[in-house]
Amino acid sequence: MSTAVLPDALPATSLEVRLAAYPDPEGEVTLDHFAMGESELSEPGEGQVVVRNDWMTLGSVARDQMNPATKLPIPVFQPGVAMWGRTVGTVVRSSSPDLAVGDLVEHFSGWRQYAVGSAQEFFRRDRDLLPGPEYFLSQGPTAWHGMVDTVGAGEGETVFVSGATNGVGALAGQIAKLRGAKRVIGSTGSREKIDFLVKEIGFDAAFDYHDGPVAEQLAELAPDGLDVVFDNVGGEQFEAAVRLANRGARFALCGALAGQHGGDGGSPRLPLMTAISRDLSFRGFATLHTPDQIDGWNERFGAWLREGRIVFPHTVVDGGVEALPQAFVDLLRRRYSGTVLVKLS
Ligand SMILES: NC(=O)c1ccc[n+]([C@@H]2O[C@H](COP(=O)([O-])OP(=O)(O)OC[C@H]3O[C@@H](n4cnc5c(N)ncnc54)[C@H](OP(=O)(O)O)[C@@H]3O)[C@@H](O)[C@H]2O)c1
Repeated sequence: MSTAVLPDALPATSLEVRLAAYPDPEGEVTLDHFAMGESELSEPGEGQVVVRNDWMTLGSVARDQMNPATKLPIPVFQPGVAMWGRTVGTVVRSSSPDLAVGDLVEHFSGWRQYAVGSAQEFFRRDRDLLPGPEYFLSQGPTAWHGMVDTVGAGEGETVFVSGATNGVGALAGQIAKLRGAKRVIGSTGSREKIDFLVKEIGFDAAFDYHDGPVAEQLAELAPDGLDVVFDNVGGEQFEAAVRLANRGARFALCGALAGQHGGDGGSPRLPLMTAISRDLSFRGFATLHTPDQIDGWNERFGAWLREGRIVFPHTVVDGGVEALPQAFVDLLRRRYSGTVLVKLS
């Protein structure tokens, strides 16, 4: 059984990252938009636990949360207040019968060293299910929900994943392969990331969307057209995929990176007669991360990892809570591949 190393004494304060000010909705995020702060740490009250945060994941969705006008159905960050996001940690003090010291928990009070709250805000995870606690932070529930529940990618199909090197896309493509897809094609932003997709995680082909018109590159790589599209990007990539869609093709609309943080890619053109005559379907989805979705994915992920049938594409950033702002700025500059994991303890 895996174990956790626990601190003897609780520190007096916990370091945290606060939003200093909202960036311009379409502007660049810089270190000036963050402020480091400390909050007092005390023993837990009745029904509460104290959790040492061990890992947190960053995604560009936090950029949307820095915009009070975002359309996403999630709360935005407040200036002067600690930010929050998906994290795993270890219970170091407990005044609740529901969680014990040493338990591994997943929760949303990231961007800080320690989290304190009601035991109900923390979800226990089985340390032995996955190779390490950070694996619980994969984007698998979203990738599975989109690729399987939403469009049912299956045997013999040609699948295109846009934004294929990010945390969601890199798993979505592998899931399609595991379900028997004939050919999985990914788009990404550099030669290095193409190699990552094709040589490391089993995509059949990939292209760099900077290298010329997407429709031409995609047509070359998908001579038989597309049956399934998992779209993280929108814009030109969505329009190209529609042009190449086979009769009855299904689109899972996961993200709109080309328009999410500026740019006009969030409103691509859809030729209606093409959609009608080819019987295309388009389904947006917002993953609710229900216990069923999370537990189902973690069980499946653990089994596939043990069988060597899937890899967890991720980038680890060391440096603790202090490293979070720079890591987030680098994420938005597209420096990383796979799920971005910051080691906090
Ligand atoms: N529907 C849902 O339930 C759900 C749940 C979670 C996330 N999402 C969405 O899924 C998408 C992926 O999320 P994630 O957290 O895995 O990764 P992420 O952090 O959003 O992805 C970052 C990567 O996306 C690519 N990218 C950024 N801007 C781009 C642009 N304008 N055009 C093309 N590619 C761009 C970059 O890679 P390159 O170097 O390849 O350009 C970058 O490294 C996001 O749109 C997110 O909002 C949806």
